[in-house]
Amino acid sequence: MKVPPEFTEAAVKANSPLEQQLYSDFIRCGEPWKSIFANNPWLVPPDTRKPLEWGNGMYWDTTVARKHPYWKDRDLPVPTKDIHRMRADLREWGFCLVEEGLSEAQCTTFRERLQAQAEGERLAGVQMPTPSGQYINSLINKGECFAGCIEQNPEAVQAGPLIEQLMDETLGKGWICHSFLSNGADPGGYPQGLHIDQGPLLPFQTREAPVLANTMFIPQDVDDENGSTLLIPGSHAILAEAGSGGEVGKLPPAINLEAKAGTLLIFDGRLLHGTGANRTDQQRFVATMSNVAAWTRQQENWIMTVAPDVLEGASPKLLHRMGLQALTYGGTIEGFGLGAPGRKGDAYGSLREFRQASDRGEYVRVRELSAESTPEELERDYTIKSAHARVRQQRQSRS
Ligand SMILES: [Fe+2]
Repeated sequence: MKVPPEFTEAAVKANSPLEQQLYSDFIRCGEPWKSIFANNPWLVPPDTRKPLEWGNGMYWDTTVARKHPYWKDRDLPVPTKDIHRMRADLREWGFCLVEEGLSEAQCTTFRERLQAQAEGERLAGVQMPTPSGQYINSLINKGECFAGCIEQNPEAVQAGPLIEQLMDETLGKGWICHSFLSNGADPGGYPQGLHIDQGPLLPFQTREAPVLANTMFIPQDVDDENGSTLLIPGSHAILAEAGSGGEVGKLPPAINLEAKAGTLLIFDGRLLHGTGANRTDQQRFVATMSNVAAWTRQQENWIMTVAPDVLEGASPKLLHRMGLQALTYGGTIEGFGLGAPGRKGDAYGSLREFRQASDRGEYVRVRELSAESTPEELERDYTIKSAHARVRQQRQSRS
């Protein structure tokens, strides 16, 4: 095949030196990490091939705020039920603590299910080890209490309505669940490198608000001994101030989170944080639920993950949270959902029947068609056709 010489791979490469490329210098700038590590060498993650070092002032070698010489006299977030205090804490420090976000009974159910699942996954050989500890992924399929938390159903998480309000204010209405998984800190594990959860967006940085917000469920007491989450209070504002591709100077020290079982930690997607090092002989579990704007590609590929029976019984709200309610900029299947507003319960954009057809082995996709196609090809029971028919039917029955 003869192609114009300008289109050949060699010519394109020869005409694309780095200094002429459009935005590569920005995309590849390595910020904010380059300046963070240069100005704060104590934030370099540990080498997991070597024993963890203590006594050198590294970020994991810290304590809870009330015992920390730098932080103990500052007005850091404390567990509260007051939404006004939570807003102020989120603005100033990038996190807040919801006191008794899970009731005692909800907390017990949550913790026992996690611990039992962790053991079951080890016995089945499907556990996911990480340098910090055992992860339990895709909680949606591993207990009704977890689905209830994704819906922020007060039956599963008594502070649900308050969390929804704070998420609405942060991410805009229509936000969905990015993932819900449990992060274990195992005895002798390594701390995670401190990171921000909206890291995939870097080097773009959002100044005005985060684009991801995290709710951490804390089903057992956590402190500086058992691998409690490390975080740098206020780092969200420092990173926001640095802006896209901007440099970050010296950062304040990290602390270990201190919280009682049943507390929820809500934090900004720009806050530097990570799992701590567990120095006890017991596993420590927390579970993190990230939420994002409705058009974002999710961490969990829910449409594949969710178990058939969970899918069958899912409420319109749960389907929406899992991203199974397509809208113009997210989740469409064969164009189904283009132009849809993505509201929960809308027939147009509801993806459940595509997945269910696939489960039955009956999903028929539209392939190459033309006037020469056979009558059989033209009359096939295309899934998109029945999906549109269902929408029409629902609209007619409404009018
Ligand atoms: Fe994280």
